[in-house]
Amino acid sequence: MRLGFIGTGVITKAIVTGLIRSGLAFDRIALSPRNAETAAELATLDPRVEVCTSNQGVLDSSDIVCVAVVPQIVAEVLRELHFEVRHQVITFVPGTSIAKLSRLVRPAIKLVRAIPLPAVADGKGCTAIYPPDGVAKSVFSALGEAVEVESEHQFDALHAVTSTMASFYAVLEQQASWLTQQGLPYGAARTFVSGYCVGLAHETTRTGQTFSEMIEYLMTPGGLNEQLHAELSSLGAYGHYGDALDRVFARVQDRA
Ligand SMILES: NC(=O)c1ccc[n+]([C@@H]2O[C@H](COP(=O)([O-])OP(=O)(O)OC[C@H]3O[C@@H](n4cnc5c(N)ncnc54)[C@H](OP(=O)(O)O)[C@@H]3O)[C@@H](O)[C@H]2O)c1
Repeated sequence: MRLGFIGTGVITKAIVTGLIRSGLAFDRIALSPRNAETAAELATLDPRVEVCTSNQGVLDSSDIVCVAVVPQIVAEVLRELHFEVRHQVITFVPGTSIAKLSRLVRPAIKLVRAIPLPAVADGKGCTAIYPPDGVAKSVFSALGEAVEVESEHQFDALHAVTSTMASFYAVLEQQASWLTQQGLPYGAARTFVSGYCVGLAHETTRTGQTFSEMIEYLMTPGGLNEQLHAELSSLGAYGHYGDALDRVFARVQDRA
């Protein structure tokens, strides 16, 4: 497997680091020269990682080409390159629909979209893939979980859900600050909330139960979990979440 990356920034660094740590078999990883500092740092990790002198150099020495530049320049960058039919192109760039990508990378026809997140560096998290593709699945399964979806609509919906990261941390901050109001030092509150979260996330991987079933299981009748869940439900907290996701989804689809 010969992988190449156009754009050597945050997400490429996470993927390359994760791939090396995972032990997945690959022959070489070709990196585009920008960002030079990150590319040089990654090249020190494994002798199979090479920094090319140009973006075209990446294509010339790769079969799987990952596109990891920011959306504002993706069309300009790809139009300058000469793709071949043998190339499989995997884009991480939001708004690069398969139809749009196809126009930019002709004659390449093996095209995939994926949403890897920085935790892939540690083999954690779940990468969304569209359309289902054996090669992309094998790469991203080595970096944690991978979920393939059958339509771009579904892929965009998963993309919309990745907007929940900041609000997820906001909930944790709410709990940590509330603990400080009860006199705990912030450090102790943060350590507790972080470990508590890791435990809850771990539970989701140990069972095939739906989240609703997990909620039911945790809610002892008359217990504290039942009380908080009922109170937040009656305040409409979860409904607001769904409404906000609808609006994010509309934006994601507008760009696609
Ligand atoms: N970070 C994430 O969690 C994440 C998750 C999923 C998808 N994505 C998407 O993946 C893409 C990359 O994200 P990122 O966070 O890795 O961004 P980033 O850190 O800004 O990396 C983009 C890289 O592209 C390089 N670049 C600029 N012009 C270039 C050119 N003409 N040719 C080749 N490379 C060039 C930049 O180099 P310089 O520093 O020298 O300008 C930079 O290193 C974006 O479209 C983003 O939306 C990111």
